[in-house]
Amino acid sequence: MPTRTLSRRDFLKTTGLALGTGVVACSGLTALATYRPSVALPESTFGDQDTAKKVLIAYASKCGSTGEVATAIGKTLAQNGAHVDVMPLKEVTDLSGYQAVFVGSAIRVGKWLREAADFVNENRAILQRVPTAYFTVCMTMAEDTPANRDRAAGFIDPVRTVLAPAAEGYFAGKVDFKRLSFVESTMLKAKGGIEGDFRNWDKIKNWAQSTYAQICA
Ligand SMILES: Cc1cc2nc3c(=O)[nH]c(=O)nc-3n(C[C@H](O)[C@H](O)[C@H](O)COP(=O)(O)O)c2cc1C
Repeated sequence: MPTRTLSRRDFLKTTGLALGTGVVACSGLTALATYRPSVALPESTFGDQDTAKKVLIAYASKCGSTGEVATAIGKTLAQNGAHVDVMPLKEVTDLSGYQAVFVGSAIRVGKWLREAADFVNENRAILQRVPTAYFTVCMTMAEDTPANRDRAAGFIDPVRTVLAPAAEGYFAGKVDFKRLSFVESTMLKAKGGIEGDFRNWDKIKNWAQSTYAQICA
């Protein structure tokens, strides 16, 4: 049987093709594993424009549940006399004119989302001058026990070090595996994470009302 010698050009063509196909397949798989359905993050304004109390509620969320908590807080503050802007942190451009600021974040792997921590860091000089409250949404609070409260409070230790808030709220969140990427849901399942909506709207509204009375009185 005649043996065929592979020219240098043919060798490079063949290996290049194989490598290229491998890279495309790998990046396709990576994209598939990290793909997460997009989420619309709520932005709204509530309350009387003419009131003296203008409050900003700025939040960071990956799957939307923290945005809905922020909206519930905003509605409650408006019912108590405030004019409230609720918006994702990425949309906040100007902090002037607010008499109080609420900053909220979902927890991922034991921490506030980076954009929320960065926001406090970058704006600490302004936030020091207005009453600022933090709220945290996480699955640790699915069971509201003193130990879980302590654990949830520990998640924001690094942020508290940058700026100690006037008030802090910790709320149970929501997990919907369909809203997570394959990597995220696998990671969460491996850690025994459960699915469900554990938000307690009465607790959220009560906290909003008492915090408003405490820091905006
Ligand atoms: C990948 C991943 C990691 C999470 N890590 C934690 C965690 O370390 N501690 C916790 O209490 N909750 C954790 N959670 C739960 C979220 O904080 C909770 O689902 C929250 O409601 C998500 O908010 P969002 O819908 O605004 O993104 C995690 C959720 C996901 C998807």
